[in-house]
Amino acid sequence: MSDAATLPRAEAAVTPVIEAQDLVKTYEVGRGLFSPPGVVRAVSGISLSLAPRRTLAVVGESGSGKSTLGRMLALIEPPTGGHLAIDGVDVTGVDGARLKGLRRSVQMVFQNPYGSLNPRRTIRASLEEPLLVNTDLTPDQRHARAVDMLTRVGLRPEHAERYPHMFSGGQRQRIAIARALMLRPKIIVLDEPVSALDVSVRAQVLNLLADLQQEFDLAYVFVSHDLSVVRHIADEVMVMYLGGVVEQAPKEAIFADPRHPYTKALLSATPVADPGRKRDRIVLTGELPSPFAPPPGCVFHPRCPVAIDRCRVEKPVLAGDGTRLTACHLAP
Ligand SMILES: Nc1ncnc2c1ncn2[C@@H]1O[C@H](COP(=O)(O)OP(=O)(O)O)[C@@H](O)[C@H]1O
Ligand SMILES: [Mg+2]
Repeated sequence: MSDAATLPRAEAAVTPVIEAQDLVKTYEVGRGLFSPPGVVRAVSGISLSLAPRRTLAVVGESGSGKSTLGRMLALIEPPTGGHLAIDGVDVTGVDGARLKGLRRSVQMVFQNPYGSLNPRRTIRASLEEPLLVNTDLTPDQRHARAVDMLTRVGLRPEHAERYPHMFSGGQRQRIAIARALMLRPKIIVLDEPVSALDVSVRAQVLNLLADLQQEFDLAYVFVSHDLSVVRHIADEVMVMYLGGVVEQAPKEAIFADPRHPYTKALLSATPVADPGRKRDRIVLTGELPSPFAPPPGCVFHPRCPVAIDRCRVEKPVLAGDGTRLTACHLAP
């Protein structure tokens, strides 16, 4: 009985579904006709580990590299450097056929569900497509799965024959989530999945995601520029700034006791649940620096309210006690 499929659950659970070491992604970008191309470091050396059925939230301002990290983890784009293992398999340098198999384990949901739903095809056709491409299921089986998944995301069987434009934004996102689930992945990378939705529908979609996580044993990488969105769904929070991680900790620690000045600033901009514990608002001045020319020392120092001389020259390393990591010279 050495078949991997017969391993007891507790034993299987210790293998992370995602393990990333020092992931880097650079892009060569033209800077006009007479300038040499520049190199953007969109992600500069990120390591992480995600256990099955857990949620890692990745937060930070627009331009911090969250989507780029998400696309690498979802095997949509290869990293420029570093190592990535999905479901225990090192994907760095694996061949096409093997990669195709692994791609079934990890799916991605985007902010705008129109990206994954063809406006000219019925919902049923969009849901069945991954099965058509990747499985040997019969047309009847594919249809049954599509309808089943639609009902699991809170829609009705008759919705299958309709077109994307006939749905609200929230319903379309439910359909995109159903599509991501068709191949029964272990991991879903959600890139700002509720950012385009009305506040009133946001909570419903977040609740749906939480229910589906239990039902399908999913691990989530949940990308959001808004910390308040991940407050309930996250287990662990990774805060990104200019391509790197400035702080990573269990959710409770991030919200109760943020240590990096950038995390404090992000948190101070989010609404407080308990108005009695009103926080002082920390307003960040200036913009995210250009990733073409990151500042020397700590990349956050030009905007940091507490920066000291050392921060201008020496880059802080991400360090801590195992559960809490902070990249700041002033962190406790
Ligand atoms: N395909 C690309 N080509 C060139 N630059 C890119 C590309 N994708 C992202 N970038 C750059 O990488 C940085 C991080 O972008 P992104 O990952 O989209 O951040 P976020 O999702 O946090 O807003 C930005 O400076 C962006 O302009
Ligand atoms: Mg993004």
